[in-house]
Formats: sequence, C-alpha cells, structure tokens
Amino acid sequence: MISLSRNKNIIGSESQRSIVKMYSTYVNKYKASFFKMIGFGVVLGERNRLNIKMLEGRRKGETPLDLIDCHTSGGVFNLGHNHPEIVKALKDGLDAGLNIGDHHLLSEQRSLLAKEMAELLPGDISKTQYCVGGGEAIDLAIKLARGITQRKKILSANRAYHGVTGFALGACASRFKDMFLWGPSDFAQVPFGDLGALSKQIDENTSCVLFETIPATGGILIPPEGYFTTIRELCDDKGVIMISDEVQAGLGRTGEMWGIYGGLYENEKVVPDIIVLAKGMSSGVYPMATCSYRPFIEEVFKEDPFLHISTTGGSELGCYVTRKMLDILSKPEFLSHVKDMGKLFGDDLEELKEKYSNLIVEVRGRGLMWGIEFKDEVYGQLFTVNMIKSGIWGDYCGNNKAVDKLMPPLIIEPEDIEEIMKRLENALNLFQKK
Ligand SMILES: Cc1ncc(COP(=O)(O)O)c(C=O)c1O
Repeated sequence: MISLSRNKNIIGSESQRSIVKMYSTYVNKYKASFFKMIGFGVVLGERNRLNIKMLEGRRKGETPLDLIDCHTSGGVFNLGHNHPEIVKALKDGLDAGLNIGDHHLLSEQRSLLAKEMAELLPGDISKTQYCVGGGEAIDLAIKLARGITQRKKILSANRAYHGVTGFALGACASRFKDMFLWGPSDFAQVPFGDLGALSKQIDENTSCVLFETIPATGGILIPPEGYFTTIRELCDDKGVIMISDEVQAGLGRTGEMWGIYGGLYENEKVVPDIIVLAKGMSSGVYPMATCSYRPFIEEVFKEDPFLHISTTGGSELGCYVTRKMLDILSKPEFLSHVKDMGKLFGDDLEELKEKYSNLIVEVRGRGLMWGIEFKDEVYGQLFTVNMIKSGIWGDYCGNNKAVDKLMPPLIIEPEDIEEIMKRLENALNLFQKK
C-alpha cells in the first residue's frame, strides 16, 4: 500500500540480514532472537500515514509485510506516519535555526508551548515542565507530589505501566521490577477500578495516587462511571496529589482532548493535580514529554528552581513541532472526526465479537483506543501473530495477555476501518483453520 519512493541512502541502506546481525551484536541479542523465532521480516522500512512496511520479506524473494499500524507505539503516531504538516514544521524549525536549546536558559518555544497547553489543559492546570520521555515525566510528577506533601507513599494500579525509570518503575507491575530487587517500601498497588481497595490504602502517609486513565498495558480497562470523581474526593479529603497518566489515553485518543476530562464519560470531567503526557506529544518525529500541574505545586521549586533538570527534554525544535501537532489535534472538527471514527470502529468490533463469540469474551474501549479480550492468554498472544499474518500491526497487552490492543492513528477514515475489519476477521479465521 505504500507508494513513497524509497531513499536508498537512508532507509534500506543495509540488507535485513545484516541489520538483524548488527542489532544482535550491538543492541540486544535476545530481542533479535525473539523476532527471528517469530519468523517475520522484522526490520521497519518505509512508513506513511497508516502504513508501515518491513524492509524485506521473511526469506529472500518473499514480499515484505505491509501492515496497517494499529499499534502506533501507544499513540506516538496519532497523526499517522510523517504527517506532511508535521514534517514541514520540523524542517521549518531547523531552517529557522532552532535546535535543542539550553536547558538552563529561558526559552521562547518552551514558553509558547506551555502557554498553548495551559489553554487546553483542564481546570487550572497551567504549569508545564519538559522531559525527554514518559518515564521521566512520571518520575517528576511523583517528585512533585512528594515535594509538596512531604509524604512518601505512592498508590497505583497492580497492572500498571508508567515507564522504566526510577519512580515510574516502582509504580509498575512486578514483572518489570522484581528482577531489579525493587523494595516494597513506598509503593502500594490496588486493583484498578476498585474504590474499596483504594480507600483502605490511602492514608496520611500517601503523597499521590497515580493511575492511567485507561490502563493500556493492563488490558484497556474501563473504570465504572464516578471512579475518578471519587478518587478526586478521596485525594482532597486526605491532602493527596492526584496524578493522571494520560500518556496513551490523552491527546484526543478518546475523542476528547483529555481522557480524564470527559473522555471516559461525557459528563464526568475530573481535574487532577498533575497530568503527564508523552508519546503523541512527539508527533512521531521528535521526542517530547511533559508534566503539567496546578500552580500551587510550583512551590516545590521555590528554594531551588533547578531541582529537576532535563538536558534534552523540551528541545526547542521539538516544542515547535508539538505546537503544530496540538494546533491540528485540538480543533473541534478533528476531535469530532475521532469520535465518529471511534463509533464506527467500536460498532464493527462489537459485530466481530458477536460473530466470534466462541473466541472473544469482550471488546471495550473509548474513541480509537480498543481492547479485544479473548477467552484466554494463549488466544490473546496468538491473535497478535494472526494479526501480523493478516496485515495488521497490533499487539497483546503485556500485563493482561488475553487482551489485544488496537490504537490506530486518529486520522483514520471509514475506508481504512473497513480494511482493518476485513483483516481482523481474517486473523480470527486463522484460529478456525488450525
Ligand atoms: C501509560 C504510560 N505511561 C508512561 C509510559 C512511559 O513512557 P516512555 O516510554 O516515553 O518512558 C508509557 C510507555 O509505554 C505508558 O504507556
């Protein structure tokens, strides 16, 4: 499906075989072996809009896989691959002389982006600090919560994923941290959606409650209506900071700008104290992550404004690109397009569920963030392989393997959805053929 002319000097300068070998020798041999074992041509080649193509086929002479990207690295490619306006903004920024900038000095682009974000963020969240990636931004959120409350305990969900840096890692499922002998000291986890469990844990030692609005790696979990409203009340009652990880569910993914503010339930508009963003903030071309908070939290920096330093976080060039992305994405017509496409996508998935009720237990989601729950983990994992064979790049949820996650670019059109559904049905039929 991809019709870009390949630039031989950059993409495809090496054969797949030699790249796999180099990757194995110089990056990660276990990852290279994993993909070799799965048996697909696995080196990313050309990409455009919804489509990603592998560099070569699995064997010599075999056609390379041409996949519709329903993975989007968790929303990195909200605007699809290499959106022309984003590419132009990146080039314009470079031509204008922007680069990373100096993290000690004040910055025009960082100020402008933060101001524009303040206009979009819910409630009085109006201060933004820049980071390199989501993990660092979660770390910063936790640091701020601890700094302002002078308390240590952190509550999160037991199927959570918040990154692999220090504090963020502490809030993750045990799979990511046991190997590194992470102590049980300051982190407590509760089942997502269970207010009883949370109320028992939240106390006068708690600094913050940290949840993804829709836990993605946890299996696209949709909490009951009122869940986040009650968390807000509990936090207010106990003087606890409420942190929303909107790394995947934010930025228009649900058809609303913010998942936490009307994206889950139209009338439930919760304003947390801190919102963390990453992934889609990059527009797929320049890493960008942010930690935005209500003004009272800024007090933490009073004694030392240089307390959180991120040398390349908030690159001026990146800020310029992100501003363009937000301009496109925050337009009411863009968000209503996401809503319309989300409705179509969800309805079609429901139909597939009805037809394949022997395999699928539930489909659930919001906007263009969906999970298909299979009857067990084996089916969930095999479905990822079936999807790849059928031309869809999506994957099972790492902390809930019975569920496969689908997050296509938000620029999707009805004909794309039709094609995706055809391919998904093909992937489901592959089970019957076994
Ligand atoms: C919900 C959520 N929070 C935080 C992160 C961490 O982001 P990063 O990989 O940019 O550190 C991720 C990454 O997958 C995520 O899904």
